[in-house]
Amino acid sequence: MNRLVYVLNGPNLNLLGKRQPAIYGYETLADVEAECRKTARDLALELELHQSNAEFQLIDWIHEARETAAGIVINPAAFTHTSVAILDALNTCEFPIIEVHISNVHKREAFRHHSYVSLVASGVIAGFGTQGYPLALQRLARLIDEAK
Ligand code: DQA
Repeated sequence: MNRLVYVLNGPNLNLLGKRQPAIYGYETLADVEAECRKTARDLALELELHQSNAEFQLIDWIHEARETAAGIVINPAAFTHTSVAILDALNTCEFPIIEVHISNVHKREAFRHHSYVSLVASGVIAGFGTQGYPLALQRLARLIDEAK
């Protein structure tokens, strides 16, 4: 039974903890990844965790995941609102995808209200802070179990 999940983070999320903490909080990406590993252990998921500021790199990881994984949790950051290429890549995947945003994008500028990735996501978590990642993993584990 494949229980490998890719957790992908997009541009500027390497600066988590230092970047606009009033919006994104003080937890670092390393903190988020540690929390994901803990949750994954409880859910018997295997994780691949990656962050990149480059669109092509995120697409390459999605291509890798489509061959090997059972699901993706992705915070595409600003590419959420701009990238047809990331949507196209995710559309090649046959497993569940959960979209995560740390902030409540619907409470922010109008350009953040539209997401290309939501067209392919099984579900979206926004505004739960970094807690959104473990919650996304819980949902994904359920979807993977149900697909058995
Ligand atoms: C974000 C929201 C996006 O609008 C923004 O560009 C980000 C982070 C979030 O996690 O709240 O970089 O995806």
